[in-house]
Amino acid sequence: MIPTIYLEEDRVCILNQNLLPARVEYERAANYKELMVAIKELKVRGAPLIGVTAAYGIALAMENYSGDKGDLTDYFNNAAGEFASTRPTAVNLFWAIERMKKVFEANPNVDLKYLRERLWAEAKIICAEDINNNMLIGENGQKLFPPQARILTICNAGALATCGYGTALGVIRSAHKHNKVRQVWVCETRPVLQGARLTVWELVEEKIPVSLITDSMAAFVMQQGKVDLVVTGADRIAANGDAANKIGTYGLAVLAQYHRIPFYIAAPFSTIDLNIPSGEMIKIEERDQEEVRRIGGNYITLPDVNVYNPAFDITPAQLITGIITEAGVVEPPFREGLLRIKGM
Ligand code: MRU
Repeated sequence: MIPTIYLEEDRVCILNQNLLPARVEYERAANYKELMVAIKELKVRGAPLIGVTAAYGIALAMENYSGDKGDLTDYFNNAAGEFASTRPTAVNLFWAIERMKKVFEANPNVDLKYLRERLWAEAKIICAEDINNNMLIGENGQKLFPPQARILTICNAGALATCGYGTALGVIRSAHKHNKVRQVWVCETRPVLQGARLTVWELVEEKIPVSLITDSMAAFVMQQGKVDLVVTGADRIAANGDAANKIGTYGLAVLAQYHRIPFYIAAPFSTIDLNIPSGEMIKIEERDQEEVRRIGGNYITLPDVNVYNPAFDITPAQLITGIITEAGVVEPPFREGLLRIKGM
């Protein structure tokens, strides 16, 4: 499986996902600001990977610290705040930053070398836990698949969106290992094309049968009886089970209900935000209008047309059949189930 992020002598290397599938190229961040830009520009993307990148980024920021940069705590909080401002929707980002903050606060008055080691270690643990959780999600989720399953998904919730294996795509990967996958329908995922560029690439690498469709074809494919279940990732799941994910997910959930097709969300605990009672309170990122005006750098419309470009939407809990986590599958009513599974 291709690494999305790794360390080389305390330097952070990331796979630039904007170049996929044409080129597999890694970039070595010279400083933490470059990692912030990488998150904003979607060089690294996907809720869990954004969190891990911020964790490594905070460790790198401390590596970049020297006495002339002011008070250490102010410097740390500033760097953490800068990462928190990169993308608003995926709660994994804020969750990972909190974990790094806890390590910082638990180590007052230690020498800088020791503090740096602790921070690098925590970032590595977050990354390793992510892979482990994804494999558990995969195993839990594959049990829901019928034999010869035809699955529909959107965006990329695969190895590329995580430190490895993936969430929704991890479930498909596990089901494939159990010989349960006949076919995966991948929605292209306009405007950034994570489905066409990234998910197709991952599935082809794994030799899992895949067909690419444009987003607007999903309804017809379902109507033709060619989809047995839908599984997607999530960027934030509210306490009542409402789930934010890539724009287009909500539409798929409505369609799935109409066609009586099970609709699953696969996500780790770090994506569940029990502080938010319902999806209405989830901040939806609005991205640059140019993402919609162009494809592959070329204008497909008038260069100055007004564009609305929300990057995510919210799927109401009542459209979700189950939430697949590392600790098992949560079924409705989600509020009780999520609390129980998070041990609260
Ligand atoms: O804008 P992106 O590419 O970061 O959006 C990614 C998604 O919407 C994923 O489905 C989600 O983050 C889950 S990734 C395991």
